[in-house]
Amino acid sequence: MAQYVLEFALFIVLLLAVTLFMPSLTNYLSLRRLPLNGAQHGSYPNRLMAFTSNAEQLYREGYAKFKHTVYRVTTVEGSRVVIPTKYLEELRHLPDSTINNIKSLFQIFEGKYTGLNENAPLINHVVRTDLTRALARLSPRLCEEVDRCIKAELPPCDDWTPVVISPIILRIVAILSGNLFLGPELCRSDEYLHMSINYTVDLFAAVAALKRYPKILRPLAQYFTPELSSIQDHKRRANAFLLPVIRRRRAMTREGMAMPDDMLQWMINKADSFNVKDDAELAYCQLSLSLAAIHTTSITATHIIYDLAAHPAILHDLRHEIHSVLQATNGAMSSQALFQMKLLDSVMRESQRLNPTNMARFTRYVAKPVTLQDGTGLPAGYFIESPHMAICRDPLIYPEPDTFNPHRFLHLRQLSHTHTTPPTAAAAAEHKHQFVSATPDNLSFGYGRHACPGRFFASHELKLILAHLILAYDIRLPADANGVRYRNVVRSAVVVPDVGKAVLLRRVVYE
Ligand code: HEM
Repeated sequence: MAQYVLEFALFIVLLLAVTLFMPSLTNYLSLRRLPLNGAQHGSYPNRLMAFTSNAEQLYREGYAKFKHTVYRVTTVEGSRVVIPTKYLEELRHLPDSTINNIKSLFQIFEGKYTGLNENAPLINHVVRTDLTRALARLSPRLCEEVDRCIKAELPPCDDWTPVVISPIILRIVAILSGNLFLGPELCRSDEYLHMSINYTVDLFAAVAALKRYPKILRPLAQYFTPELSSIQDHKRRANAFLLPVIRRRRAMTREGMAMPDDMLQWMINKADSFNVKDDAELAYCQLSLSLAAIHTTSITATHIIYDLAAHPAILHDLRHEIHSVLQATNGAMSSQALFQMKLLDSVMRESQRLNPTNMARFTRYVAKPVTLQDGTGLPAGYFIESPHMAICRDPLIYPEPDTFNPHRFLHLRQLSHTHTTPPTAAAAAEHKHQFVSATPDNLSFGYGRHACPGRFFASHELKLILAHLILAYDIRLPADANGVRYRNVVRSAVVVPDVGKAVLLRRVVYE
């Protein structure tokens, strides 16, 4: 009898084990069926080493070998499934419950330990709607701010002066963004600038420290990662700084006063409909906003300025374009004026094409197995991504892909009008080549429903900063750079500009 009970218990345990582990096993086996890029490097640790030491080459090889098929690659985030461009359209229509982006952000930013904000819907909504709509209305306010910043933050440069431009641009981006996030009074305060600049830096340091440990050890490693405490410190400081501001705003509403026109206020107004539990959550939303908005924009600006310094001949044409546009708007850098700066837009897009901040984009977690229309299967439980950098260098999409061609996207926009009818189709075709367009060929801002909602603001802000800079200064590389653009710093799949480098600036003297 005892033997039967034991056998029955064993059977139940086995059944449970099979039920529990079968899906993972099936997913793992489906993953293993996909071709492996970098197989020549051998074992998992060796492939990982190949990725950390030269991810660019791996992605290029993968793109050359498997341009039209799904394949896997070993990354610092584990095995990932790389998907060809042709599937993006189909994938972007799948619901978040199948292809999920929050889970991928949690993995990238170690959200379990860093405590990423979970009220992303409020931030996304306010950025997408209120902020984007406010650009036309608040453009004069931003223009005044950027004018003040350029005068205050940059040296006079009466003669050629070396200027380490990146930290200056970072501060200007933070102030300018802060003008719309918290209002013109608070955007220069030390507390705001500290939070908006350093939270991201400290978060990245904590994430890097955690990722030094294998995944399995991270629950324990969090207690040996002092960088994590600085994140808590930022949250405390954000509360101490912003809670009194939020309380004052609520009192102003009660007293029927005119309310400020900024992101904090738009968020306060919509807090209830997004189930914000308390004011601390609103304060945290501002930190998360800084994470999404400040360094991304300032890195992009730094790349563009390095490209301008390496190709100074284009400054003349850019200045000419900006002057002509401003003549038509009586000097106002309105949204419409910025839209008309099409060469500037082209330069920005070309710089972003050649300097992607990450080699992969459209990173999503596959929550449920997916069978694509052509029968291709994506296993659940793994992350997919698109080989953004390799696409940006595809000669069939971008002829002479390694050359910085400032007119590339301007020409493509012009061609759209020559070759496309009716005018509505031509406008749509032209739109594809703009800086803000998120298409399968340009994943710089991601793609689909979760593509960056802040890209219209980023573009507006970048154009304001660059137009002011270009009108006021000539830009060159120092002689010891020998005319060669500064090389980027690459860490695994992440690419950033070398922020310690100086460019030469000289004030433009108008006759
Ligand atoms: C040049 C500057 C910027 C770049 C290159 C950039 C890039 C990106 C990328 C690649 C994504 C992921 C999209 C995807 O996976 O499909 C993203 C998401 C996001 N970005 Fe940006 N971004 C920039 C500026 C901004 C700004 C200024 C804001 C806010 C004002 C912002 C707010 C967001 C938010 C809220 C998300 C999450 C969207 C979602 O999950 O649905 N970004 N951004």
